[in-house]
Amino acid sequence: MNFRPFFWPFDGVISLPFARNSGCRIPHAKLTNIVKTETIQPIKALSGPIELPGDKSISHRYGMLAALANGTSELRNFAAARDCHSTLGCVKALGAGVKVEGTTVQVTGHGLRGLKSSWRTLDAENSGTTIRLMSGILSGQSFTTKITGDSSLQKRPMKRVMTPLREMGADIHGRDENFPPLEIRGGKLRGMHYQMPMASAQVKSAVLLAGLYAQGETSVTEPAATRDHTEVALLEFDAPVSKKGRTVTIQGLAGDGKGNPGLRPISADVPGDLSSAVFFIAAASLLPESNLYIGNVGLNPTRSAILDFFSQMGAAVTVVNLQTKQGELVGDLSVKGARLKGGVISGDLVALLIDELPMLAALGPYTEQGIEIRDAGELRVKESDRIAALAENLKRMGAVVEERPDGLVVAPGKLHGAEIDPRGDHRIAMAFAVAGLGASGDTKIRDAECAGVSFPTFYQELRRLAQ
Ligand code: S3P
Repeated sequence: MNFRPFFWPFDGVISLPFARNSGCRIPHAKLTNIVKTETIQPIKALSGPIELPGDKSISHRYGMLAALANGTSELRNFAAARDCHSTLGCVKALGAGVKVEGTTVQVTGHGLRGLKSSWRTLDAENSGTTIRLMSGILSGQSFTTKITGDSSLQKRPMKRVMTPLREMGADIHGRDENFPPLEIRGGKLRGMHYQMPMASAQVKSAVLLAGLYAQGETSVTEPAATRDHTEVALLEFDAPVSKKGRTVTIQGLAGDGKGNPGLRPISADVPGDLSSAVFFIAAASLLPESNLYIGNVGLNPTRSAILDFFSQMGAAVTVVNLQTKQGELVGDLSVKGARLKGGVISGDLVALLIDELPMLAALGPYTEQGIEIRDAGELRVKESDRIAALAENLKRMGAVVEERPDGLVVAPGKLHGAEIDPRGDHRIAMAFAVAGLGASGDTKIRDAECAGVSFPTFYQELRRLAQ
């Protein structure tokens, strides 16, 4: 094992910014300021079997739709991601029953009209998917809800969902008419056709979820394909959804509250999260002696463009045991070390690879031609400004990087260990932990536990498979 020995019940080194070497007692209030640094040392290979925690996007949708169904849904391998537990916190505050036992979650809904107003402001914490999708559901309620999130979420744009939801009849306000906290006065919604100005699964989903509550038909046309887990999940819960080309249509169910059966509860296994698997695929690919087997990964075609991209780069990734579970494609992946060519990500591919861009950029120096990302201005309004965070941290490790307004160019070259500031962004932390595995010397990831937003056991798993 090449990682540093650790102390403290968690892995990693605790920095005590106020008390180290001072001999004084840490004031209790300062404990919340403890920042955990994870030290990554170079390794030769990543080998063994691994299964990933449940898919974050699917878990959010199952959690929300189960809260609107008639009865109890059992969701197995529900994401351990903090984000998805933020969603569970929100639906619980609105009166759904939520029972969590390990990774099995039971959610009891009381029908589409079964949610109750919450006296307290809902907290989506770090989760854009929670606040944007919940905005769609809350727009159809007969009460007013406030919803907010942490300091990162409060900087993320919400106009993209506010605009179509207002058009459907909801009364929504936010700080500067764009940022959380949002106040959503739900009401009678009208079905509509929405030509989405941007490729966003979250916006599409917010409109479709509001469409459940609208009079008549609601349809959304997207300019480029985005993940379709909302459409797939709605069908599983028996909602009348159909798709033609880039247009998804839903028939409103709750318009008059009579004469329709609503949503049926489901019993489902959430597939492992491909976006989490990507960090391990990247690590195994860049380390020549690796031999990794990733079991039970979600391979929905609107998510799996990353595997095609890895193959194009020359990665040795094989897919086996393909099957479909609750409308979602699932399979196992075998990954071996390989020489990676590099490549360009631009145009419609950006939306399909949006969450994988941090890892691809951090992999750039390990490729023969480098990585170029274009048309990805959206990365600037994710959990952090990911373009700036990637450029800054790659430079710290010695990479040659050109930062552009809508992307970056990362040249091939050698990396050395450095102190990484992930800016509280889970995917930046994990991408640089992987980059550190092939660098010379130690890489220290500050505030490393932010990885828990999507993958709480990331460092343990990396350590377990490290050779
Ligand atoms: C998500 C959609 C994507 C993605 C996010 C999860 C989802 O965001 O980046 O991590 O579950 O719908 P956008 O739809 O804003 O691109």
